[in-house]
Amino acid sequence: MRTQVVIIGGGPSGLLLGQLLHTQGIDAVVLERKTRDYVLSRIRAGILETGTISLMHQAGVGARLEAEGFVHDGTIISYGDEEFTINFKEHTDTSVVVYGQTEVTRDLYDAREAAGLRTLFNVEQVEIHGADTDKAYVTYNVCGETHRIDCDFIAGCDGFHGVSRQTIPLSVRREYEKVYPFGWLGILSETPPVNDELIYAASERGFALCSMRNAKLSRYYIQCSLSDKPEDWTDEAFWQELKRRIPAQHAEKLVTGPSIEKSIAPLRSFVTEPMRWGRLFLCGDAAHIVPPTGAKGLNTAASDIHYLFEGLKQHYLENNSAGLETYSEKALARVWKAERFSWWMTNLLHRFPDQTEFDLKMQKADIDFLRSNKSAQSVMAQNYIGLPY
Ligand code: FAD
Ligand code: DHB
Repeated sequence: MRTQVVIIGGGPSGLLLGQLLHTQGIDAVVLERKTRDYVLSRIRAGILETGTISLMHQAGVGARLEAEGFVHDGTIISYGDEEFTINFKEHTDTSVVVYGQTEVTRDLYDAREAAGLRTLFNVEQVEIHGADTDKAYVTYNVCGETHRIDCDFIAGCDGFHGVSRQTIPLSVRREYEKVYPFGWLGILSETPPVNDELIYAASERGFALCSMRNAKLSRYYIQCSLSDKPEDWTDEAFWQELKRRIPAQHAEKLVTGPSIEKSIAPLRSFVTEPMRWGRLFLCGDAAHIVPPTGAKGLNTAASDIHYLFEGLKQHYLENNSAGLETYSEKALARVWKAERFSWWMTNLLHRFPDQTEFDLKMQKADIDFLRSNKSAQSVMAQNYIGLPY
């Protein structure tokens, strides 16, 4: 088989790239290790930046998002029973949209299928060959049989545990990492959200986040210990703990119910450089991870796709490889800023096991400054709604 671009990974990055390339008549094959249903069952991000939304429209899959997404003009930050709002609209004239990653992925798979584009599921032992030569190809196994696809380029969109990043030799690759000493326990429940804006809550007992998917579906998170397992937390224990971390006026109104999903995510900051090696381009979680505070993971994956798509378009339509040559540099410049913002918000709002009294005073001063200073709020709003591409 031959194609122009092999896309490894059928998560949001790979699917978005596939759909954008299709709009320009550029041929691509998506190789996904799991099934479509498995990919759609992973509950992850919920907030889309304007740039991500524009890319969805550009890819021809913006209609449902436009109709069903909830526009949020601001967010609440709380500490103990105190709270204040960061008004995105006032500071940036822009908003974010609540629309789950599962829905983004579903829309992209539906469009891919409707256009008859090639996606291979359940592929095993994907290997990249000759990425640093003019004869790149990818091999993979399906049902015990090995297949080969020759291609011009490979997009490594296979997440943090994929093969693409590992293909770049250690002599070329440099990795930067920070692991946080806690995780997030998240639940999804068929209950109305406690508030119409998200609440990012700092408290003496640790961080909590009140989010949502729609008017009848809530997503809540609490900071938990890395040794906790989801099954250690009954729904009752989760609700009790959440109520103790958010302001009393919200806790009183919180509608609880059975969880329909419960999982723990560890928190990590990670960046690999460069994001390109010959004909191989890394995108999204394959190249970088942010802690979820600030909702940058999916949105940063989308900005990588923007740069790579523009580079590939220029290459195929204008015979100009400048965009591909500068892909890594451009993507990383934005990635590091999203890393900084997520790291800052994580440090601002979580309790760390080794925090001293001094550290706690610094954290409180940071929150007080944000509460009282319009410029600080503007900086936060600009980062939250997403920096320009
Ligand atoms: P992924 O979504 O990881 O997709 C990669 C795809 O590649 C997967 O479908 C995988 O099955 C496939 N794959 C892997 N290896 C191979 C292989 N060898 N061959 C073929 N296919 C392969 N972000 C937020 O903004 N907010 C959140 O609340 C949030 N919560 C998260 C919770 C968890 C547990 C995780 C892991 C991430 C979370 N994120 C969150 C981050 C966000 O979901 C990711 O940034 C986003 O999914 C990145 O998309 P991606 O397509 O680059 O990678
Ligand atoms: C969600 C997750 C986040 O990490 C975040 O900052 C905001 C919302 C969510 O899953 O809804």
